[in-house]
Amino acid sequence: MPALASLYAPRTRGITGSVIDASTSLLGNQTHDVVRLAMGSPAVEAIPSATFGALLGELEADHGAFDYGPTEGDRALRGALLDFLAGNGTAAGEDELLITSGGMQGLDLVCKLFVGRGDLVAVESPTYTNGTATISGYEGEMVEVPGDADGMDVGALERLASERGAPKLIYTIPTFQNPAGTTLSLERRERLIELAAAWGSVVLEDDPYSLLRFEGEELPSLRELGAGRARVIGVHTFSKILAPGLRVGWVLAEPELIHRMVDARQSMDTCTAPPMQRLVARFLADGFAEEHLARLRVDYHDRKVAMQQALADELGDLGASWTDPHGGFFLWLTLPEHVDTDVLFAAALREGVAFIPGRAFSIGGRFGNALRLAFSAEPPGRAREGIARLRRAIEITTDHQE
Ligand SMILES: Cc1ncc(COP(=O)(O)O)c(C=O)c1O
Repeated sequence: MPALASLYAPRTRGITGSVIDASTSLLGNQTHDVVRLAMGSPAVEAIPSATFGALLGELEADHGAFDYGPTEGDRALRGALLDFLAGNGTAAGEDELLITSGGMQGLDLVCKLFVGRGDLVAVESPTYTNGTATISGYEGEMVEVPGDADGMDVGALERLASERGAPKLIYTIPTFQNPAGTTLSLERRERLIELAAAWGSVVLEDDPYSLLRFEGEELPSLRELGAGRARVIGVHTFSKILAPGLRVGWVLAEPELIHRMVDARQSMDTCTAPPMQRLVARFLADGFAEEHLARLRVDYHDRKVAMQQALADELGDLGASWTDPHGGFFLWLTLPEHVDTDVLFAAALREGVAFIPGRAFSIGGRFGNALRLAFSAEPPGRAREGIARLRRAIEITTDHQE
């Protein structure tokens, strides 16, 4: 038999695995106590599983819940979601909404429709590399745009475009970015939209976290700012505000594009699992969401503050620095140059704490001395223990490296 590799279609060369997703299996195989600061998971206590259980029980009488559903999404969920979004300041028309199987499917559909071999795509650095893996899977050519505390450096994007040409697609996570936790300032949002409008670029606004703001002022989404000027597609998910295992997300885009996405999906997964859609529809329509979100915002704020305090206490003397997110799940820790966080990862896991090393968030393998910490999943006391273990691991690895 010929080797499998000789049979794969040439375009599969761009398909890469995900270090982030691989951590789920790796951590699942650990038998000792590990403080989980790696995955972008909600707190276990933040998942309203008792309410879900009760609502799922009620689906027994709802036979349509187990049939095929419409590709654009279950009618009940579409209605409940549009009302929920309107209540949270996002106006969207019935024909601008597609229900998806999580945020990842939204990213995949956008890339499937817009990215072809050699198309230039601007991505943030660091960025969510499951997003860039999707782009490379469709053979896009990426350029990394650096960021700082105010999100993507839009001036640097402009300079890159003058060297390389205007990007066809701009992939950004402007609000409580994964992994950095930073937020694109209003001024930069305005400029990004101006540039996208001038270049005719499509902006892919990946936004799983904006409903989890616990500090600072609300900012308009890129989609809102771009209305009538630039083409912005919003990709969203219930993974962070309800539960990732539901695999329910949504896309907001212009009606013509929603139609094409429906077509593209019909050769993919037909529809998002209808029982999960009905479950989310009931959760929203029965009015559970607002109180739930209000509690999450308080809890995640407490967790962020506790983690920053632990970092100051445990790593303050090392010359480490970290970001100050105003919402979401993550902060980004930069250690002194000589610390290699890939090496640190193994020692940290042995000590009983997990994070994701910085290189996993850059297509060019940058950020070897940085790492992502999720403050979402573990309660403050556990996070403090995790940071103390991290300190021990830094000492062990730097002793060996010196
Ligand atoms: C920026 C970003 N986009 C997309 C996703 C994927 O969301 P989902 O799990 O709903 O597919 C995530 C999840 O971590 C994310 O952080």
